Amino acid sequence: MANVAVIGAQWGDEGKGKVVDWLASRADVVVRFQGGHNAGHTLVVGNQTYKLSLLPSGVVRGKLGVIGNGVVLDPDALLSEISRVRGQGLDVGPHNLRIAENVPLILPLHPAIDKAREEARGEAKIGTTGRGIGPAYEDKVARRAIRLCDLAEPETLSAKLDELLLHHNTLLKGLGAATFEKQELLDKLVALAPKLLPYAEAVWERLDEARHGNKRVLFEGAQAVMLDVDHGTYPFVTSSNTVAGNAAAGAGIGPHGIGTVLGIAKAYTTRVGSGPFPTELFDDVGKRLGERGREFGTVTGRPRRCGWFDACLVRQAVKVGGIQGLALTKLDVLDGLEELKICTGYRIEGEVVKRLPAALGAQAKAEPIYETLEGWTQSTQGARSWAELPATAIKYVKRIEELVEAPVTLLSTSPERDDTILVSDPFAG
Ligand code: GDP
Ligand code: IMO
Ligand code: MG
Repeated sequence: MANVAVIGAQWGDEGKGKVVDWLASRADVVVRFQGGHNAGHTLVVGNQTYKLSLLPSGVVRGKLGVIGNGVVLDPDALLSEISRVRGQGLDVGPHNLRIAENVPLILPLHPAIDKAREEARGEAKIGTTGRGIGPAYEDKVARRAIRLCDLAEPETLSAKLDELLLHHNTLLKGLGAATFEKQELLDKLVALAPKLLPYAEAVWERLDEARHGNKRVLFEGAQAVMLDVDHGTYPFVTSSNTVAGNAAAGAGIGPHGIGTVLGIAKAYTTRVGSGPFPTELFDDVGKRLGERGREFGTVTGRPRRCGWFDACLVRQAVKVGGIQGLALTKLDVLDGLEELKICTGYRIEGEVVKRLPAALGAQAKAEPIYETLEGWTQSTQGARSWAELPATAIKYVKRIEELVEAPVTLLSTSPERDDTILVSDPFAG
């Protein structure tokens, strides 16, 4: 079966939405398998811009969208996103969006705890999106989450809310934040039931059918390998596994169903929120990247931190994420820079290392080792073939391929859907 999984290879916002939308024309089903509405995926199609957080990017192509059990689902965020994209002319409903019945829900107490905890951390804050993602995953692992299927059983809801509130109200009180009333939450969930249950099903069965029907499934990752709860720059990470391996558990298919793993990386590096970032630039070049790349968070509007391409980091993401091909985006943002730098490794207390260490202290000490390449003055914006690229831009891409030990299979040269150069079709396997 020719399936493809798309994952971020840096710290998020690499352009996964654009690439998934582009690939979705060749797919039958698009599946989200982790994360929640902390994700912000921007798709530009002609004069329309779609900003998606929870909906699989394939909905813009009219493909069947699936939200897998590995996601944490905020019902209000989902319903408002659906009505927003309907307002933009998209057709989204239970006929083309299916949601895993066992998906855990984000309730209003989750963002409340997320924000209260961030405040308590002060200077040491993670810089979360404040959407309750971490607390919702904690509840799932602690076996007290309310799941979509529970909405059909008010008596189950009632008992689960007792357990949930015992835990969370104690915590909220300790943090000096407002607590939650059981009846209010119960009423809210009961009112949500008829709106959400028509979307619920055992999506694993549908994916199994797709598999036997030789349908093409595209798995859409959110966040990125360096934000992975195990492999990222912990604790400055999100609360899910973002690597492609999680597509199997987060959707309910076996590991063989994942198919080809495509990693998405920007031609430079950005990060939102706190945490280590060895190639971060605080000078005019960093400012220029931010301006040309319009680097503002889709979800929170925060300016993204910018820096040179870190090949050492992406190589690590390639290895731990099982990335077989790289889609390199935003090459056009580098237009006009006289010289470019690529980080090939780090120096830590005099020693050269070829991976970002796991310990926080060591990460903070990692000084990038740079290789300098010649830039280009011509515009690459909107290029759709290699022939349109200056020789130095091709050299830059080729050097990245060598350093990250993965082929560049796709290049993106503008936000627009079709400004893309395909090297090899990931669905071809
Ligand atoms: P995602 O979270 O990985 O889906 O990425 P985001 O959508 O949050 O951020 C990527 C931003 O870059 C969006 O505004 C895209 O429209 C834009 N973008 C994607 N590819 C390109 C590209 O090749 N060139 C430029 N200039 N912008 C791009
Ligand atoms: P997409 O899918 C960039 C970051 C937050 C914060 C950390 C933890 O658009 O690439 P969380 O709210 O998840 O607990 O925050 O993770 N973060 C992202 N950064 N892109 C994203 O998603 C992100 N989702 C979460 O900024 O540093
Ligand atoms: Mg984003």
